[in-house]
Amino acid sequence: MPGMMRRKPAVSRLWLGGAFHLVVTLATCLTVSCALADDEAAARGRRLFETGVGRDGQSIVAVFTDSGTPVPGKLLSCAGCHGRDATGRPVKGIDPPNISWQNLTKPYALQARAGRSRLPYDEALFLRAVVTGIDSSNQKLGTAMPRFRLTPGDGADLLAYMRELGTTTDPGITAQEITIGIALSPRTSELDADVRTALNLYGEEVNRGGGIFGRRIVFAFEDDHALSGQSGALHDKNILAAVVGGAVAPTALSDDIPLVAVRSDAISRRPNAFYVSAGLLGELGALAMQAARELGATARLTVLHTDDDAGRQLLADLRGLLLRNGGPTFDAVPLADRSDAAADETVRRVRASDAVLFAGWDQRAPGLLARLDPALVLLPGSLIDALPDAPTRMLVAYQPGAFFVQRDTLPKPVQRTVLAAARLVVEGLRRAGRDVSRARLVDSLETIQRFDVGYGAPVSYGPQQHVGFTGAQILYFDAHGGQAVQRAVNVELD
Ligand code: HEC
Repeated sequence: MPGMMRRKPAVSRLWLGGAFHLVVTLATCLTVSCALADDEAAARGRRLFETGVGRDGQSIVAVFTDSGTPVPGKLLSCAGCHGRDATGRPVKGIDPPNISWQNLTKPYALQARAGRSRLPYDEALFLRAVVTGIDSSNQKLGTAMPRFRLTPGDGADLLAYMRELGTTTDPGITAQEITIGIALSPRTSELDADVRTALNLYGEEVNRGGGIFGRRIVFAFEDDHALSGQSGALHDKNILAAVVGGAVAPTALSDDIPLVAVRSDAISRRPNAFYVSAGLLGELGALAMQAARELGATARLTVLHTDDDAGRQLLADLRGLLLRNGGPTFDAVPLADRSDAAADETVRRVRASDAVLFAGWDQRAPGLLARLDPALVLLPGSLIDALPDAPTRMLVAYQPGAFFVQRDTLPKPVQRTVLAAARLVVEGLRRAGRDVSRARLVDSLETIQRFDVGYGAPVSYGPQQHVGFTGAQILYFDAHGGQAVQRAVNVELD
């Protein structure tokens, strides 16, 4: 036996260790606490499968056999090639096979691809394939399949997840119905009734047209309070996915639920969340781009921001966005503290520039604004509640499609944006097909390109792109918010 071991390559020994470890774990796991440990293993396995992160929280390492260069597994997740549901999806000219456990272990030889048929896999053969690239019939897998350096723990986690994947039906799906949770923010409660009506009408329309592959669509409403609290009709046991209208605490919805949120600043980023628009960041980017167009490349732009972590993060994101889009650079000035001297200093710095963009807004801002003439003032609509009085020309950015009612009322496009998010989910469900699951929904949302959600600009998504639209509609106002809106321009960023 030791002689045999010596002839095997090092990776293979590692893999053998992994398989042995796994057998031990399975054999001793007959208690309830072990069931919980299995759940945790499967959860870690899922993270590995979908994002390439191993047990230690670090990216696993993938190696392409032809180049031999190690690549972070984060860039080469199993799900990225084989699909989140493991059933395989064509990417860039390669056609990764169905590696669902059910398919891998079918008790007869399978034609894996033209010219390769293979026997059923078991756990050890599966891990050998992933680590060394040798299939269940001792044939070399094609070079498009990377080899992965897995620790025994990672191998056990991956197997725990592979065995679970596809064997259970996700919550929120029955033969007759698909239930989508709708989370509305408390701030929009006066609009809730309108939103409900609009969504219910939309749901009826979809269902009249035969539903989605014969299943009725049902919207389950719950406010944030119930979501974060005890009752929770939106508990993840009941819904397939959720639409998020306003800001939601990240803990309010379990990580397993795919989300479509109206704006990317409404909820913290997670791999299965999609956003209709970039929200505030898109407005800021659009304003900066438009100011540069208006004033020329040499114009000086100052960005006023709140002096906290969120404000600084927003600045960093804005710099990145403008860099990507060939936009202007800017000076950042924190919104000063309350002292007069500090306010004077802020005004002095801003006056030296040609345009000032408000990336933060609080009670100090209107007073400041009154002193900023002659700079062009740039205001993101989602920061302000009413058009402020200013002695200078203003550009105000709104999410596209927002309806502008009158001078003192800012658009409240909540209803249409929630509807847009719901349309996006329905489109994702249609593309996911009859065998829809949470994993498949996320994959199919990533295929949506230039889709009209019935609200402003069309949205596009991809594996690395979960924000559908970044930009804004910009309205021009004269000094003192003059009645006449001179014109509106749409600005879209990459
Ligand atoms: C860059 C794309 C890519 C990534 C990433 C990738 N695979 Fe593959 N995989 C493939 C391709 C393509 C094949 C088919 C190779 C062939 O037919 O020779 C394959 C084959 C396999 C097979 C063999 C299936 C069979 O029928 O014999 C298994 C098992 C497998 N992959 C598991 C995984 C796992 C687990 C991961 C993540 C740790 C992963 N793959 C990541 C592209 C990929």
